[in-house]
Amino acid sequence: MPTTLLDRIGLLVTNEPSYGSPPLGEIRDAALVAGDDGRIAWVGRSADAPAADTRMDAGGRCVLPGFVDSHTHLVFAGDRAEEFAARMAGQPYEAGGIRTTVAATRAATVDQLSSTLARLLAEMRRQGTTTVEIKSGYGLTVRDEQRALALAERFTPETTYLGAHLVPDEFADRPEAYVDLVTSDMLDACAPHAAWIDVFCERGAFDADASRAVLEAGMARGLRPRVHANQLGPGPGVRLAVEMGAASADHCTYLTGEDVDALAGSDTVATLLPGVEFSTRHPYPDARRLLDAGAAVALATDCNPGSCFTSSMPFCIALAVREMGMTPAEAVWSATVGGARALRRDDVGRLAPGAGADLAVLDAPSYVHLAYRPGVPLVTDVWLRGRHFGAAPRDLTESGDQPG
Ligand code: NIG
Ligand code: FE
Repeated sequence: MPTTLLDRIGLLVTNEPSYGSPPLGEIRDAALVAGDDGRIAWVGRSADAPAADTRMDAGGRCVLPGFVDSHTHLVFAGDRAEEFAARMAGQPYEAGGIRTTVAATRAATVDQLSSTLARLLAEMRRQGTTTVEIKSGYGLTVRDEQRALALAERFTPETTYLGAHLVPDEFADRPEAYVDLVTSDMLDACAPHAAWIDVFCERGAFDADASRAVLEAGMARGLRPRVHANQLGPGPGVRLAVEMGAASADHCTYLTGEDVDALAGSDTVATLLPGVEFSTRHPYPDARRLLDAGAAVALATDCNPGSCFTSSMPFCIALAVREMGMTPAEAVWSATVGGARALRRDDVGRLAPGAGADLAVLDAPSYVHLAYRPGVPLVTDVWLRGRHFGAAPRDLTESGDQPG
């Protein structure tokens, strides 16, 4: 791959405080070079930029690391728009809605699941997402969980086995037998295709003991833990996540002081999913309290057909700023390097030599516009490992071999 210089960046977010003001390590009038290996080779001031095979002109726009969406459920079939409409008319959100998607997903072909997944991933990339985690959890049989993960791993290394999403109807009168299946034959079939183990630790799903058993079984097979915790009410999920050394406790909507302290005293990231609160009319998590206590916070979409069907990290950033007391800089940090930490990755979420050349170009002079101009498609270009994808008509102007 030729080396590429991206020049005339009005504002570059590196997420490396050594380069500029914290937390985002901002450089004004900046440039960067993507090496022939798809990694960042150089960042700095435009005036100091080295030569490269190809030069692209950012025209003064803002450039930031591609978003790291560390929590999605993209392997599914069916549509729950009617359920959403009913909620907006006053019905409560219930975890049992998952069953609707389980039935549709089991009935779908792999080709159908694959084309929905590919469409959503393309939609995400157009909005600046360059790293995505994908969970199973709408199969809930050995065959259906295994095929969901085998499909997901074709698109991302960040695959999560969530057989413990809900007890399926056929096990309703013997939930312990379902936990046995999740931790034995289903795990055997899924572990080769998964990096992570997750459990929905919530009243109506899995209690603390069952959740611990699921996580321990997965960890014994080399999967790393993450937890759906404290989404629908207070509960043991966050403390279990911390106890197990989980990379992330996700949702964190209903937290006690003890939960906040546990997160702040650990390296478990609190992953907040404000699109869920938007789409369920639940109260937003208290990001300010977590940040002030010193917890690491990530933002992700939770893209799924039930509790939140957005694929847009910019939308989540806007919600985090408007509804959760985060500053624009904190929200951008959480949507990039915060997500990377929630996946224990240091090669994404930052733009510094050695990191992947994964970035988003905004048709705006500053990342603040992500919250200041909610709902506006500001991402014009995305680079994935140095490969350039124009996302909008006003893409970058290129000059290299050709004159000009
Ligand atoms: O993360 N919390 C559990 N699972 C999903 C919801 C899935 C659904 O409603 O289909 C979530 O919100
Ligand atoms: Fe989720």
